[in-house]
Amino acid sequence: MDASIALLLFTAITIYLLWFTFISRLLRGPRVWALLGSLPGLIENSDRMHEWIADNLRACGGTYQTCICAIPFLARKQGLVTVTCDPKNLEHILKTRFDNYPKGPTWKAVFHDLLGQGIFNSDGDTWLFQRKTAALEFTTRTLRQAMARWVNRAIKLRFCPILETAQLRGEPVDLQDLLLRLTFDNICGLAFGKDPQTLAPGLPNNSFAVAFDRATEASLQRFILPEVLWKLKKWLRLGMEVTLSRSLVYVDEYLSNVINTRKLELMGQQKDGNAHDDLLSRFMKKKESYSDSFLQHVALNFILAGRDTSSAALCWFLWLVIQNPIVEEKILNEICTVLMETRGEDVSSWVDELLEFEEVDRLIYLKAALSETLRLYPSVPEDSKHVVTDDVLPDGTFVPAGSSVTSEDMLGEGLGLSTNEVDSSGSVIAAPAHNGAGPPSRAKDVIDVVHEVWA
Ligand code: HEM
Repeated sequence: MDASIALLLFTAITIYLLWFTFISRLLRGPRVWALLGSLPGLIENSDRMHEWIADNLRACGGTYQTCICAIPFLARKQGLVTVTCDPKNLEHILKTRFDNYPKGPTWKAVFHDLLGQGIFNSDGDTWLFQRKTAALEFTTRTLRQAMARWVNRAIKLRFCPILETAQLRGEPVDLQDLLLRLTFDNICGLAFGKDPQTLAPGLPNNSFAVAFDRATEASLQRFILPEVLWKLKKWLRLGMEVTLSRSLVYVDEYLSNVINTRKLELMGQQKDGNAHDDLLSRFMKKKESYSDSFLQHVALNFILAGRDTSSAALCWFLWLVIQNPIVEEKILNEICTVLMETRGEDVSSWVDELLEFEEVDRLIYLKAALSETLRLYPSVPEDSKHVVTDDVLPDGTFVPAGSSVTSEDMLGEGLGLSTNEVDSSGSVIAAPAHNGAGPPSRAKDVIDVVHEVWA
Protein backbone atom coordinates (compact mmCIF):
# COMPACT_ATOMS: atom_id res chain seq x y z
CA MET A 1 0.00 0.00 0.00
CA ASP A 2 1.17 3.46 -0.87
CA ALA A 3 2.58 5.20 2.26
CA SER A 4 0.43 8.29 1.74
CA ILE A 5 -2.76 6.18 1.51
CA ALA A 6 -1.75 4.26 4.65
CA LEU A 7 -1.15 7.56 6.46
CA LEU A 8 -4.47 8.91 5.28
CA LEU A 9 -6.23 5.75 6.45
CA PHE A 10 -4.44 5.86 9.80
CA THR A 11 -5.40 9.52 10.31
CA ALA A 12 -9.04 8.84 9.36
CA ILE A 13 -9.25 5.89 11.77
CA THR A 14 -7.63 7.90 14.58
CA ILE A 15 -10.03 10.82 14.04
CA TYR A 16 -12.96 8.40 13.93
CA LEU A 17 -11.86 6.70 17.16
CA LEU A 18 -11.40 10.05 18.90
CA TRP A 19 -14.84 11.12 17.74
CA PHE A 20 -16.31 7.74 18.76
CA THR A 21 -14.77 7.95 22.25
CA PHE A 22 -16.19 11.45 22.64
CA ILE A 23 -19.67 10.53 21.40
CA SER A 24 -19.92 7.30 23.41
CA ARG A 25 -19.08 9.25 26.59
CA LEU A 26 -22.05 11.54 25.89
CA LEU A 27 -24.39 8.58 25.61
CA ARG A 28 -25.86 6.70 28.53
CA GLY A 29 -27.42 3.30 28.10
CA PRO A 30 -26.38 0.00 26.54
CA ARG A 31 -22.87 -0.49 25.19
CA VAL A 32 -22.26 1.18 21.82
CA TRP A 33 -19.86 -0.30 19.27
CA ALA A 34 -17.84 1.54 16.64
CA LEU A 35 -19.93 1.99 13.47
CA LEU A 36 -22.68 -0.37 14.69
CA GLY A 37 -23.75 1.64 17.74
CA SER A 38 -26.08 -0.31 20.02
CA LEU A 39 -27.33 -2.54 17.18
CA PRO A 40 -25.46 -5.68 18.39
CA GLY A 41 -27.24 -5.48 21.77
CA LEU A 42 -30.55 -4.83 20.04
CA ILE A 43 -30.17 -7.87 17.79
CA GLU A 44 -28.88 -10.08 20.62
CA ASN A 45 -31.93 -9.18 22.73
CA SER A 46 -34.50 -9.10 19.96
CA ASP A 47 -36.56 -11.87 21.60
CA ARG A 48 -36.60 -10.04 24.97
CA MET A 49 -36.63 -6.46 23.71
CA HIS A 50 -38.94 -5.08 26.40
CA GLU A 51 -36.95 -6.62 29.27
CA TRP A 52 -33.67 -5.43 27.75
CA ILE A 53 -34.90 -1.85 27.40
CA ALA A 54 -36.37 -2.00 30.92
CA ASP A 55 -32.97 -3.20 32.27
CA ASN A 56 -31.23 -0.30 30.52
CA LEU A 57 -33.73 2.21 31.87
CA ARG A 58 -33.40 0.84 35.38
CA ALA A 59 -29.62 1.22 35.14
CA CYS A 60 -29.90 4.81 33.87
CA GLY A 61 -32.62 6.12 36.18
CA GLY A 62 -35.47 6.40 33.70
CA THR A 63 -34.02 8.02 30.57
CA TYR A 64 -31.07 7.16 28.32
CA GLN A 65 -29.73 8.06 24.91
CA THR A 66 -28.09 5.63 22.57
CA CYS A 67 -27.19 5.54 18.91
CA ILE A 68 -28.04 2.80 16.45
CA CYS A 69 -25.54 4.05 13.90
CA ALA A 70 -22.17 5.36 15.15
CA ILE A 71 -21.29 7.37 12.04
CA PRO A 72 -20.35 11.08 12.18
CA PHE A 73 -23.28 13.43 11.35
CA LEU A 74 -25.78 10.55 11.72
CA ALA A 75 -25.06 9.62 15.33
CA ARG A 76 -26.55 12.82 16.81
CA LYS A 77 -29.46 12.94 14.36
CA GLN A 78 -31.17 9.97 12.65
CA GLY A 79 -29.02 7.50 14.57
CA LEU A 80 -29.82 8.89 18.01
CA VAL A 81 -32.57 7.29 20.07
CA THR A 82 -33.79 8.69 23.38
CA VAL A 83 -35.56 6.09 25.50
CA THR A 84 -37.61 7.24 28.47
CA CYS A 85 -40.14 5.99 30.98
CA ASP A 86 -40.34 9.25 32.94
CA PRO A 87 -44.08 10.09 33.19
CA LYS A 88 -43.42 13.83 32.75
CA ASN A 89 -41.44 13.16 29.58
CA LEU A 90 -44.19 10.87 28.31
CA GLU A 91 -46.86 13.50 28.87
CA HIS A 92 -44.66 16.07 27.14
CA ILE A 93 -44.18 13.83 24.08
CA LEU A 94 -47.71 12.45 23.79
CA LYS A 95 -49.70 15.50 24.83
CA THR A 96 -48.01 18.86 25.57
CA ARG A 97 -45.75 18.95 22.48
CA PHE A 98 -47.73 16.40 20.45
CA ASP A 99 -47.04 18.25 17.16
CA ASN A 100 -43.29 17.98 17.63
CA TYR A 101 -43.42 14.18 17.93
CA PRO A 102 -45.14 12.59 14.92
CA LYS A 103 -44.62 9.01 13.77
CA GLY A 104 -41.87 10.15 11.43
CA PRO A 105 -40.11 8.69 8.38
CA THR A 106 -38.59 5.53 9.93
CA TRP A 107 -41.88 4.29 11.34
CA LYS A 108 -43.73 5.18 8.14
CA ALA A 109 -41.20 3.41 5.90
CA VAL A 110 -41.32 0.24 8.01
CA PHE A 111 -45.11 0.00 8.02
CA HIS A 112 -45.85 1.49 4.63
CA ASP A 113 -46.41 -1.82 2.82
CA LEU A 114 -48.83 -3.10 5.47
CA LEU A 115 -50.52 0.05 6.74
CA GLY A 116 -50.21 2.51 3.84
CA GLN A 117 -51.47 5.94 4.88
CA GLY A 118 -53.76 4.55 7.58
CA ILE A 119 -54.26 6.26 10.97
CA PHE A 120 -51.38 4.37 12.56
CA ASN A 121 -48.99 5.35 9.84
CA SER A 122 -49.84 8.96 9.06
CA ASP A 123 -49.48 12.40 10.58
CA GLY A 124 -50.98 15.84 9.96
CA ASP A 125 -54.17 16.22 7.96
CA THR A 126 -54.37 12.60 6.75
CA TRP A 127 -54.18 11.45 10.35
CA LEU A 128 -56.62 14.06 11.67
CA PHE A 129 -59.28 13.31 9.10
CA GLN A 130 -59.14 9.56 9.84
CA ARG A 131 -59.15 10.24 13.53
CA LYS A 132 -62.32 12.33 13.25
CA THR A 133 -64.06 9.70 11.14
CA ALA A 134 -62.95 6.91 13.46
CA ALA A 135 -64.22 8.94 16.44
CA LEU A 136 -67.78 8.35 15.16
CA GLU A 137 -67.19 4.66 15.72
CA PHE A 138 -66.56 5.38 19.42
CA THR A 139 -69.71 7.25 20.36
CA THR A 140 -71.69 5.57 23.12
CA ARG A 141 -74.55 4.73 20.75
CA THR A 142 -72.35 3.12 18.09
CA LEU A 143 -70.34 1.25 20.68
CA ARG A 144 -73.49 -0.14 22.24
CA GLN A 145 -74.78 -1.29 18.90
CA ALA A 146 -71.43 -2.82 18.05
CA MET A 147 -71.29 -4.56 21.43
CA ALA A 148 -74.69 -6.12 20.83
CA ARG A 149 -74.00 -7.00 17.24
CA TRP A 150 -70.46 -8.33 17.37
CA VAL A 151 -69.08 -8.73 20.89
CA ASN A 152 -72.07 -10.10 22.80
CA ARG A 153 -73.08 -12.40 19.98
CA ALA A 154 -69.59 -13.90 19.66
CA ILE A 155 -69.26 -14.34 23.42
CA LYS A 156 -72.68 -15.90 23.88
CA LEU A 157 -72.87 -18.09 20.82
CA ARG A 158 -69.25 -19.11 20.37
CA PHE A 159 -66.88 -18.23 23.23
CA CYS A 160 -69.00 -19.56 26.11
CA PRO A 161 -70.07 -22.77 24.29
CA ILE A 162 -66.41 -23.56 23.52
CA LEU A 163 -65.51 -23.12 27.20
CA GLU A 164 -68.54 -25.19 28.30
CA THR A 165 -67.66 -28.04 25.93
CA ALA A 166 -64.06 -28.05 27.19
CA GLN A 167 -65.33 -28.06 30.77
CA LEU A 168 -67.68 -31.00 30.11
CA ARG A 169 -64.91 -32.97 28.45
CA GLY A 170 -62.37 -31.96 31.08
CA GLU A 171 -60.07 -30.65 28.36
CA PRO A 172 -57.67 -27.69 28.69
CA VAL A 173 -58.16 -24.60 26.53
CA ASP A 174 -55.60 -22.23 25.08
CA LEU A 175 -57.14 -19.05 26.44
CA GLN A 176 -54.64 -16.84 24.66
CA ASP A 177 -55.63 -18.30 21.31
CA LEU A 178 -59.36 -18.09 22.09
CA LEU A 179 -59.09 -14.43 23.12
CA LEU A 180 -57.07 -13.51 20.06
CA ARG A 181 -59.72 -15.12 17.88
CA LEU A 182 -62.50 -13.38 19.82
CA THR A 183 -60.99 -9.90 19.53
CA PHE A 184 -60.03 -10.48 15.89
CA ASP A 185 -63.65 -11.33 15.04
CA ASN A 186 -64.94 -8.35 17.05
CA ILE A 187 -62.57 -5.84 15.49
CA CYS A 188 -63.27 -7.12 11.96
CA GLY A 189 -66.97 -6.56 12.70
CA LEU A 190 -66.27 -3.01 13.86
CA ALA A 191 -63.80 -2.30 11.07
CA PHE A 192 -65.56 -3.70 8.03
CA GLY A 193 -68.81 -5.22 9.20
CA LYS A 194 -67.90 -8.85 8.64
CA ASP A 195 -67.27 -11.43 11.34
CA PRO A 196 -64.70 -13.91 9.98
CA GLN A 197 -65.68 -16.37 12.76
CA THR A 198 -62.15 -17.47 13.58
CA LEU A 199 -63.61 -18.28 16.98
CA ALA A 200 -65.76 -21.29 16.13
CA PRO A 201 -65.97 -24.92 17.29
CA GLY A 202 -62.88 -26.79 16.10
CA LEU A 203 -60.99 -23.47 15.93
CA PRO A 204 -60.61 -23.40 12.14
CA ASN A 205 -57.58 -21.86 10.49
CA ASN A 206 -58.46 -18.55 8.90
CA SER A 207 -56.21 -17.62 6.01
CA PHE A 208 -56.89 -13.88 6.38
CA ALA A 209 -55.95 -13.94 10.08
CA VAL A 210 -52.82 -15.99 9.35
CA ALA A 211 -51.76 -13.69 6.49
CA PHE A 212 -52.39 -10.60 8.63
CA ASP A 213 -50.30 -12.02 11.51
CA ARG A 214 -47.43 -12.94 9.20
CA ALA A 215 -47.45 -9.53 7.55
CA THR A 216 -47.41 -7.80 10.96
CA GLU A 217 -44.53 -9.94 12.22
CA ALA A 218 -42.51 -9.39 9.05
CA SER A 219 -43.09 -5.62 9.23
CA LEU A 220 -41.96 -5.53 12.87
CA GLN A 221 -38.77 -7.39 11.98
CA ARG A 222 -37.81 -4.42 9.82
CA PHE A 223 -37.38 -2.33 12.97
CA ILE A 224 -34.38 -4.38 14.02
CA LEU A 225 -32.42 -3.72 10.84
CA PRO A 226 -31.20 -0.38 9.46
CA GLU A 227 -33.52 0.86 6.70
CA VAL A 228 -30.98 0.30 3.97
CA LEU A 229 -30.60 -3.38 4.94
CA TRP A 230 -34.26 -4.34 5.00
CA LYS A 231 -34.81 -2.39 1.78
CA LEU A 232 -32.02 -4.44 0.20
CA LYS A 233 -33.66 -7.64 1.48
CA LYS A 234 -36.94 -6.49 0.01
CA TRP A 235 -35.33 -5.75 -3.33
CA LEU A 236 -33.54 -9.12 -3.37
CA ARG A 237 -36.71 -10.84 -2.10
CA LEU A 238 -35.03 -12.48 0.90
CA GLY A 239 -36.30 -13.94 4.20
CA MET A 240 -39.27 -12.30 5.91
CA GLU A 241 -39.62 -9.82 3.05
CA VAL A 242 -40.92 -12.70 0.90
CA THR A 243 -43.37 -13.67 3.66
CA LEU A 244 -44.50 -10.06 3.83
CA SER A 245 -45.18 -9.64 0.13
CA ARG A 246 -46.96 -13.04 -0.12
CA SER A 247 -49.13 -12.31 2.92
CA LEU A 248 -50.00 -8.88 1.56
CA VAL A 249 -51.26 -10.41 -1.68
CA TYR A 250 -53.65 -12.55 0.34
CA VAL A 251 -54.76 -9.69 2.60
CA ASP A 252 -55.34 -7.56 -0.49
CA GLU A 253 -57.51 -10.23 -2.13
CA TYR A 254 -59.58 -10.78 0.99
CA LEU A 255 -60.21 -7.10 1.61
CA SER A 256 -60.90 -6.36 -2.06
CA ASN A 257 -63.74 -8.88 -1.85
CA VAL A 258 -65.06 -7.26 1.32
CA ILE A 259 -64.94 -3.80 -0.27
CA ASN A 260 -66.59 -4.87 -3.52
CA THR A 261 -69.38 -6.64 -1.65
CA ARG A 262 -69.87 -3.58 0.56
CA LYS A 263 -70.07 -1.31 -2.49
CA LEU A 264 -72.92 -3.44 -3.84
CA GLU A 265 -74.59 -3.53 -0.43
CA LEU A 266 -74.37 0.24 -0.02
CA MET A 267 -75.91 0.72 -3.46
CA GLY A 268 -78.83 -1.51 -2.48
CA GLN A 269 -79.00 -0.19 1.08
CA GLN A 270 -81.83 2.23 0.51
CA LYS A 271 -83.92 -0.66 -0.80
CA ASP A 272 -83.42 -3.14 2.05
CA GLY A 273 -82.97 -0.45 4.73
CA ASN A 274 -80.04 -2.37 6.21
CA ALA A 275 -77.74 0.43 7.46
CA HIS A 276 -74.05 -0.31 7.84
CA ASP A 277 -72.27 1.60 10.60
CA ASP A 278 -68.85 -0.04 10.47
CA LEU A 279 -65.74 2.05 9.90
CA LEU A 280 -65.31 1.01 6.27
CA SER A 281 -68.89 2.03 5.41
CA ARG A 282 -68.40 5.39 7.12
CA PHE A 283 -65.48 6.15 4.81
CA MET A 284 -67.32 4.80 1.76
CA LYS A 285 -70.37 6.95 2.45
CA LYS A 286 -68.32 10.16 2.47
CA LYS A 287 -68.62 12.60 -0.45
CA GLU A 288 -65.03 12.08 -1.52
CA SER A 289 -64.32 8.74 -3.09
CA TYR A 290 -61.31 6.83 -1.81
CA SER A 291 -59.22 4.26 -3.60
CA ASP A 292 -59.73 0.61 -2.64
CA SER A 293 -56.16 0.53 -1.41
CA PHE A 294 -56.79 3.42 1.01
CA LEU A 295 -59.99 1.79 2.26
CA GLN A 296 -58.13 -1.47 2.84
CA HIS A 297 -55.53 0.34 4.89
CA VAL A 298 -58.20 2.07 6.96
CA ALA A 299 -59.54 -1.34 7.97
CA LEU A 300 -56.12 -2.92 8.49
CA ASN A 301 -54.93 -0.11 10.76
CA PHE A 302 -57.99 -0.52 12.91
CA ILE A 303 -57.47 -4.26 13.22
CA LEU A 304 -53.83 -3.76 14.17
CA ALA A 305 -54.77 -1.12 16.77
CA GLY A 306 -57.59 -2.98 18.46
CA ARG A 307 -57.00 -6.71 18.18
CA ASP A 308 -53.80 -7.67 20.00
CA THR A 309 -54.07 -4.80 22.49
CA SER A 310 -57.42 -5.94 23.84
CA SER A 311 -56.75 -9.69 23.71
CA ALA A 312 -53.39 -9.30 25.49
CA ALA A 313 -55.07 -7.19 28.18
CA LEU A 314 -57.87 -9.72 28.65
CA CYS A 315 -55.43 -12.59 28.78
CA TRP A 316 -53.28 -10.95 31.47
CA PHE A 317 -56.42 -9.96 33.34
CA LEU A 318 -57.69 -13.55 33.52
CA TRP A 319 -54.22 -14.77 34.46
CA LEU A 320 -54.02 -12.25 37.32
CA VAL A 321 -57.50 -13.13 38.53
CA ILE A 322 -56.57 -16.83 38.58
CA GLN A 323 -53.53 -15.93 40.72
CA ASN A 324 -55.64 -13.81 43.09
CA PRO A 325 -58.75 -15.63 44.41
CA ILE A 326 -59.62 -12.68 46.70
CA VAL A 327 -59.88 -10.40 43.69
CA GLU A 328 -61.94 -13.03 41.85
CA GLU A 329 -64.36 -13.19 44.77
CA LYS A 330 -64.69 -9.41 44.89
CA ILE A 331 -65.38 -9.21 41.17
CA LEU A 332 -68.05 -11.93 41.44
CA ASN A 333 -69.62 -10.27 44.49
CA GLU A 334 -69.83 -6.98 42.65
CA ILE A 335 -71.46 -8.61 39.61
CA CYS A 336 -73.96 -10.41 41.89
CA THR A 337 -74.83 -7.16 43.72
CA VAL A 338 -75.53 -5.38 40.44
CA LEU A 339 -77.52 -8.29 38.98
CA MET A 340 -79.60 -8.58 42.14
CA GLU A 341 -80.68 -4.98 41.62
CA THR A 342 -81.21 -5.14 37.86
CA ARG A 343 -82.56 -8.70 37.34
CA GLY A 344 -84.06 -9.63 40.70
CA GLU A 345 -83.35 -12.52 43.04
CA ASP A 346 -84.02 -15.40 40.63
CA VAL A 347 -80.39 -16.37 40.02
CA SER A 348 -81.26 -18.60 37.04
CA SER A 349 -82.39 -15.51 35.08
CA TRP A 350 -79.00 -13.89 35.56
CA VAL A 351 -77.32 -16.06 32.96
CA ASP A 352 -80.03 -15.80 30.28
CA GLU A 353 -78.45 -12.75 28.73
CA LEU A 354 -74.99 -11.21 28.86
CA LEU A 355 -74.51 -8.04 30.88
CA GLU A 356 -76.15 -4.88 29.55
CA PHE A 357 -74.11 -1.74 28.97
CA GLU A 358 -75.64 -0.06 32.06
CA GLU A 359 -74.80 -3.09 34.19
CA VAL A 360 -71.18 -3.15 33.02
CA ASP A 361 -70.96 0.56 33.73
CA ARG A 362 -71.65 -0.08 37.41
CA LEU A 363 -68.81 -2.58 37.86
CA ILE A 364 -66.33 -0.20 39.43
CA TYR A 365 -64.10 -2.83 41.01
CA LEU A 366 -63.90 -4.79 37.76
CA LYS A 367 -62.86 -1.66 35.86
CA ALA A 368 -60.20 -0.95 38.48
CA ALA A 369 -58.89 -4.50 38.12
CA LEU A 370 -58.70 -4.05 34.35
CA SER A 371 -56.81 -0.76 34.75
CA GLU A 372 -54.44 -2.41 37.17
CA THR A 373 -53.86 -5.21 34.67
CA LEU A 374 -52.88 -2.65 32.04
CA ARG A 375 -50.53 -0.99 34.52
CA LEU A 376 -48.80 -4.25 35.37
CA TYR A 377 -48.86 -5.71 31.86
CA PRO A 378 -49.26 -2.87 29.35
CA SER A 379 -50.52 -3.97 25.95
CA VAL A 380 -48.37 -1.33 24.25
CA PRO A 381 -45.10 -1.28 26.19
CA GLU A 382 -43.15 0.74 23.62
CA ASP A 383 -44.03 3.59 21.32
CA SER A 384 -41.62 5.42 19.05
CA LYS A 385 -41.84 9.02 17.75
CA HIS A 386 -39.77 11.29 15.57
CA VAL A 387 -38.39 14.65 16.79
CA VAL A 388 -39.29 17.50 14.39
CA THR A 389 -37.42 20.39 16.04
CA ASP A 390 -34.78 20.51 18.80
CA ASP A 391 -36.42 20.18 22.19
CA VAL A 392 -35.64 19.67 25.87
CA LEU A 393 -37.66 17.04 27.75
CA PRO A 394 -38.96 17.94 31.25
CA ASP A 395 -36.15 15.89 32.88
CA GLY A 396 -33.59 18.09 31.07
CA THR A 397 -32.66 15.67 28.27
CA PHE A 398 -31.90 17.49 25.01
CA VAL A 399 -33.46 15.80 21.96
CA PRO A 400 -32.14 17.02 18.61
CA ALA A 401 -34.31 17.38 15.50
CA GLY A 402 -34.23 14.26 13.32
CA SER A 403 -33.62 11.85 16.21
CA SER A 404 -36.29 9.57 17.67
CA VAL A 405 -37.78 9.07 21.12
CA THR A 406 -39.11 5.81 22.43
CA SER A 407 -41.51 5.91 25.33
CA GLU A 408 -41.35 2.79 27.41
CA ASP A 409 -43.97 1.58 29.84
CA MET A 410 -42.25 -0.16 32.72
CA LEU A 411 -43.88 1.06 35.90
CA GLY A 412 -45.35 -2.35 36.69
CA GLU A 413 -43.95 -5.63 35.49
CA GLY A 414 -40.86 -4.00 34.09
CA LEU A 415 -39.74 -3.04 37.57
CA GLY A 416 -40.39 -6.56 38.80
CA LEU A 417 -43.24 -5.54 41.12
CA SER A 418 -45.19 -8.41 42.58
CA THR A 419 -48.40 -9.17 40.73
CA ASN A 420 -49.92 -9.94 44.15
CA GLU A 421 -50.11 -6.22 44.70
CA VAL A 422 -53.28 -6.32 42.70
CA ASP A 423 -55.07 -7.54 45.84
CA SER A 424 -52.70 -6.17 48.43
CA SER A 425 -55.18 -4.07 50.36
CA GLY A 426 -58.24 -6.24 50.11
CA SER A 427 -60.85 -3.69 49.21
CA VAL A 428 -58.74 -1.38 47.09
CA ILE A 429 -56.73 -2.48 44.13
CA ALA A 430 -53.60 -0.67 45.13
CA ALA A 431 -51.10 0.69 42.69
CA PRO A 432 -47.66 0.30 44.25
CA ALA A 433 -45.81 3.60 44.41
CA HIS A 434 -43.02 3.96 41.88
CA ASN A 435 -40.29 5.97 43.61
CA GLY A 436 -43.14 8.22 44.67
CA ALA A 437 -43.06 9.83 41.23
CA GLY A 438 -45.65 10.34 38.55
CA PRO A 439 -49.05 8.85 37.95
CA PRO A 440 -49.44 5.15 38.76
CA SER A 441 -50.51 3.99 35.34
CA ARG A 442 -48.89 5.12 32.19
CA ALA A 443 -50.76 2.54 30.13
CA LYS A 444 -54.06 3.83 31.39
CA ASP A 445 -52.96 7.43 30.97
CA VAL A 446 -51.89 6.74 27.42
CA ILE A 447 -55.21 5.13 26.63
CA ASP A 448 -56.98 8.07 28.24
CA VAL A 449 -54.88 10.50 26.22
CA VAL A 450 -55.41 8.52 23.02
CA HIS A 451 -59.05 7.73 23.45
CA GLU A 452 -60.35 10.69 25.42
CA VAL A 453 -61.49 12.43 22.25
CA TRP A 454 -63.57 9.39 21.38
CA ALA A 455 -65.29 9.05 24.72
C1 HEM B 1 -56.39 -2.64 26.01
C2 HEM B 1 -56.69 -2.12 24.85
C3 HEM B 1 -55.96 -0.98 24.20
C4 HEM B 1 -54.79 -0.33 24.51
C5 HEM B 1 -53.85 -0.63 25.68
C6 HEM B 1 -54.58 0.68 23.52
C7 HEM B 1 -53.51 1.56 23.51
C8 HEM B 1 -53.18 2.41 22.46
C9 HEM B 1 -51.93 3.15 22.32
C10 HEM B 1 -50.78 3.14 23.33
C11 HEM B 1 -51.98 3.80 21.15
C12 HEM B 1 -50.87 4.63 20.52
C13 HEM B 1 -50.91 6.06 20.92
C14 HEM B 1 -49.85 6.88 20.24
O1 HEM B 1 -49.00 6.39 19.49
O2 HEM B 1 -49.87 8.07 20.46
C15 HEM B 1 -53.28 3.50 20.56
C16 HEM B 1 -53.70 4.01 19.35
C17 HEM B 1 -54.87 3.62 18.72
N1 HEM B 1 -55.84 2.78 19.20
FE1 HEM B 1 -55.88 1.93 21.04
N2 HEM B 1 -55.62 0.65 22.60
C18 HEM B 1 -56.46 -0.36 22.96
C19 HEM B 1 -57.61 -0.78 22.32
C20 HEM B 1 -58.06 -0.27 21.13
C21 HEM B 1 -59.23 -0.74 20.42
C22 HEM B 1 -60.15 -1.87 20.89
C23 HEM B 1 -59.32 -0.02 19.27
C24 HEM B 1 -60.32 -0.10 18.15
C25 HEM B 1 -61.44 -0.72 18.17
C26 HEM B 1 -58.21 0.91 19.28
C27 HEM B 1 -57.94 1.83 18.29
C28 HEM B 1 -56.82 2.62 18.23
C29 HEM B 1 -56.48 3.44 17.08
C30 HEM B 1 -57.29 3.57 15.80
C31 HEM B 1 -55.25 4.07 17.39
C32 HEM B 1 -54.47 5.04 16.53
C33 HEM B 1 -54.82 6.41 17.05
C34 HEM B 1 -54.02 7.52 16.45
O3 HEM B 1 -52.94 7.34 15.89
O4 HEM B 1 -54.55 8.60 16.59
N3 HEM B 1 -57.47 0.74 20.42
N4 HEM B 1 -53.99 2.66 21.38
